[in-house]
Amino acid sequence: MDALRIRGTGKPLQGNVRISGAKNAALPILCATLLSDGASRLRNVPRLRDIETTAALLRFLGRDVKVDAPEVHVAAGSQVRPEAPYELVKQMRASVLVLGPLVARFGRAKVSLPGGCAIGARPIDQHLKGLEAMGCTIRLERGYVMAEGPGGGGRLKGAEVYFDLPTVTGTENLMMAAALAKGRTTLVNCAREPEVEELGRILNKMGAEVNGAGTDVIHIVGAERGELAPFDHAIIPDRIEAGTYMVAAAIIEGGDVLVEGAELRDLEALATKMRAAGVEITSEGQNVRVKRTGPLRGVNVTTAPHPGFPTDMQAQFLALMCVARGESVISETIFENRFMHVPELQRMGASVALRGNTAVVQGVQKLYGAAVMATDLRASASLIIAGIAAAGDETEVRRVYHLDRGYERIEEKLHGLGVDVERVKGAEA
Ligand code: EPU
Repeated sequence: MDALRIRGTGKPLQGNVRISGAKNAALPILCATLLSDGASRLRNVPRLRDIETTAALLRFLGRDVKVDAPEVHVAAGSQVRPEAPYELVKQMRASVLVLGPLVARFGRAKVSLPGGCAIGARPIDQHLKGLEAMGCTIRLERGYVMAEGPGGGGRLKGAEVYFDLPTVTGTENLMMAAALAKGRTTLVNCAREPEVEELGRILNKMGAEVNGAGTDVIHIVGAERGELAPFDHAIIPDRIEAGTYMVAAAIIEGGDVLVEGAELRDLEALATKMRAAGVEITSEGQNVRVKRTGPLRGVNVTTAPHPGFPTDMQAQFLALMCVARGESVISETIFENRFMHVPELQRMGASVALRGNTAVVQGVQKLYGAAVMATDLRASASLIIAGIAAAGDETEVRRVYHLDRGYERIEEKLHGLGVDVERVKGAEA
């Protein structure tokens, strides 16, 4: 298994880093191609394992997919098999995003239940409740969701759906289902993430009528034809990748990094907290400059659905707070088990006390290098950031496959900012 080895040089990060396309926008958009038989082209797609997994899933479903990063081309293949097997879904929970488009387009779908993962139980009850409101019959059988349109495979009907809580992929799944349903669908208490807004833009390009994507109420009028039109679209930049480099830039005093292509508008909650911690953050055209000229102060953070502080930035921000002056209280409200990075950071000398969904961090002067292991994508990023702070020491972050799911060419990008990092092939697991 590969690992990343970081030698903490103590030198601040400086230079420019270009942000790739957003993973969590590309995944639903790739699934939206199922709503059309024409040839669609996605541009600015990041080169990531999750993209390969989605391409493999679409191929399994009978699509013709060519991944030539940063472009992906999808067209109809010769046959359709509306079935997402466990082998593919277990590799990537976002595979559940094929459920809405498949049942809307083909009247039926068989999709493996994703199960829990390292960050929490992650049920999909809200996705299923919404599809049922649209006339779907849902059965759970041997680990699979079996969904069928009204009257044994008919067209979905527009409906009013109230989400009990905002869910990103739940909102996206129902938007795609509604895009081919008969009549009008209203989704209430929707996730407002920029990736949801981006999917709304795509569905509009494809000929559905979507209003309000990016707000908590979305109205969708399904297209009358049985399918939507193909599209050509460049994916928005990845705000979480951008946020990760912003935090990395601030981990050592003197850091001065231009994060190219980042949308500050989508990163306000993070920027506000970083500024409160003493980091300078400014917009420079299409880029964001991050400068740290003095010591860091501890600040408190509570994760929340967008536009709140993103759970996907919690681990990286916690690593930053490990070397800030004073105390910071970090509460995780989205996923119940998203502190797996804490015991690893403690092994690097961080002072963190965990109480339920809250981590109380007392800043320390110095972190130390260690061999550490991450259990999810964002936790891995936090350990790399901590490794950069461990001056004079070496840190080996194991199980890099998590990182490869969501950060394109991470060692190359960090290298460009002056970080001494290398990939070690076949390191211990
Ligand atoms: N939830 C339910 N029932 C549902 C759906 C969700 O109870 O039917 C709960 C979840 O258990 C969680 C909360 O609602 O407590 C929010 O989960 P959400 O459904 O919004 O998460 P997701 O759609 O599965 C996406 C991102 C995650 C990101 C979360 C939260 C994609 C492909 N994934 O997941 O990204 O953490 O939203 O913002 O968009 C990552 O990129 O590292 C990542 C994990």
